[in-house]
Amino acid sequence: MGAREKAVSRRIRVIGIGSGNPDHMTIQAIDALNSCDVLFVPTKGEEKAFLAELRHEICTRFITGPMPRLVHYAVPKRRADGDYGAAVDDWHDAIAAIYEDLLLSEVAEGETVGLLVWGDPMLYDSTLRLIDRLTARARVSFDHDVIPGITSLQVLCAEHRMPLNRIGAPVTITTGRRLADGWPEGASDVAVMLDGVQAFNSVADRDATLTWGAYLGTPMQILRQGRLGDIAGEITATRAAARAEHGWIMDIYLIRASATEADSDGEAA
Ligand SMILES: C[S@@+](CC[C@H](N)C(=O)[O-])C[C@H]1O[C@@H](n2cnc3c(N)ncnc32)[C@H](O)[C@@H]1O
Repeated sequence: MGAREKAVSRRIRVIGIGSGNPDHMTIQAIDALNSCDVLFVPTKGEEKAFLAELRHEICTRFITGPMPRLVHYAVPKRRADGDYGAAVDDWHDAIAAIYEDLLLSEVAEGETVGLLVWGDPMLYDSTLRLIDRLTARARVSFDHDVIPGITSLQVLCAEHRMPLNRIGAPVTITTGRRLADGWPEGASDVAVMLDGVQAFNSVADRDATLTWGAYLGTPMQILRQGRLGDIAGEITATRAAARAEHGWIMDIYLIRASATEADSDGEAA
């Protein structure tokens, strides 16, 4: 940088990379990736080998200039005991502190750092909340922007060739943990993510339609759809076998309440 140029602040680009298929990368995401000097790369979980491979494929296939520097960091573990909200809060603080240290030690003023986010950053992902924390802590100054990505929910619907909502009807998006606590009040169509407990087994409406997908967008993809009462057992078994085979699983599903159930809720479209 010339002596007369004013140093600009660091830039963070939060880039949605899609849900497992490198073809999900949008042109906007590819352009953003190519503008990065550094990528922050989390190392975590059983799925890390697959994620590392996907990230590598995305970088080698789409980066046309010099490869950004890869800065790896270990994701701290979240406390499993006590109050869930407090545990998440502490966990986010710990990750924000890591980002802060890495920004100061690994990213020079004027450089751009990319955070590659699975799917889209707005859906069940905390990266944007972490950025808000960084802003509030005010130890590092930076600009940031967000590049949308293709979500797993979009891929689920596309692979099953179905619309997400019934005509004019709302859709509830929730987690397996919450569905296990009970069917969401007034809901007729419920999309469920982050389900480690196969909460569809606890749904009373056995005539509901269950639309399920695992490893969407990847060569391991599995799809099932049918009457919940008919396919819940098979999905539970298929899921367990796939998880044992690959060492990890990501699955998502949509439950469409049966007509009677939806009518009795006054929610039918
Ligand atoms: C932490 S959330 C991230 C969601 C992501 N931001 C998105 O836009 O889809 C992870 C959950 O998303 C769902 N998921 C993400 N990718 C998936 C995939 N390829 N196949 C099936 N489910 C997926 C699963 O429910 C998983 O537990």
